[in-house]
Amino acid sequence: MIIDVVTIFPDMFRPVLEESILKRAREKGLVRVNLHDLRDYSEDQHKKVDAPSYGGGGMVFTPQPLFTAVEALTGALRYPREEEKSAGRVILLSPQGKNFSQRDARRYLEYERLILLAPRYEGVDERVRRYAVDEEVSIGDYVLSGGELAAMVCIDCVVRLIPGVVSDRTSVREESFERDLLDWPHYTRPEDFRGLKVPPVLRSGDHARIREWRESQARQRTQIRRPDLLKDHRWE
Ligand code: 6GU
Repeated sequence: MIIDVVTIFPDMFRPVLEESILKRAREKGLVRVNLHDLRDYSEDQHKKVDAPSYGGGGMVFTPQPLFTAVEALTGALRYPREEEKSAGRVILLSPQGKNFSQRDARRYLEYERLILLAPRYEGVDERVRRYAVDEEVSIGDYVLSGGELAAMVCIDCVVRLIPGVVSDRTSVREESFERDLLDWPHYTRPEDFRGLKVPPVLRSGDHARIREWRESQARQRTQIRRPDLLKDHRWE
């Protein structure tokens, strides 16, 4: 998979891409992340990428640099953009978007190329949203100063799903949200920590009972903390 990121702060991404799973995925050649400085696409003599909002208000990203960047990265723009898995999916990070979920991360895996546009908080000219973007996503109901951290969240979620990136595939499948259930409680050594004991069932060696206990704990925990998830849950 190739991920192109268009941002005015490419340096924000480098340390994140240089650690842990993202670093290893890149080294194994399972993903390539290309960082593009939006200013490099600006035709303005001072490389400006924003201007005051018509009607008053703050600064807004102008259409030209973003359109030019999308054109350069996808080939020619079409209006509206066609659904083509090979052409690259153009994703705008914005608080106006629909909430990004584990399902979206799985869906993004189908594309050979993702093009993430990460503007600053004030946002983009509406014509970008309408004509140059396939979808617009937010990572939650709070305000970030820009789309950069949100783009990094999406990159992390998607890359760890690429086969071969995380070694133990069952661990990816059993995680919270993959099954619309939160995780069950985990315990490790020591068996008795300051008098706080590990539930005996986990030490019983009875794998059927352990599985049952874990399922039941996961359901209870989800019921209490995230009942909204249970309405989508497929009971096995
Ligand atoms: Cl994608 N951008 C900004 N600026 N704030 C956000 C967000 C995105 N998602 C949640 N808050």
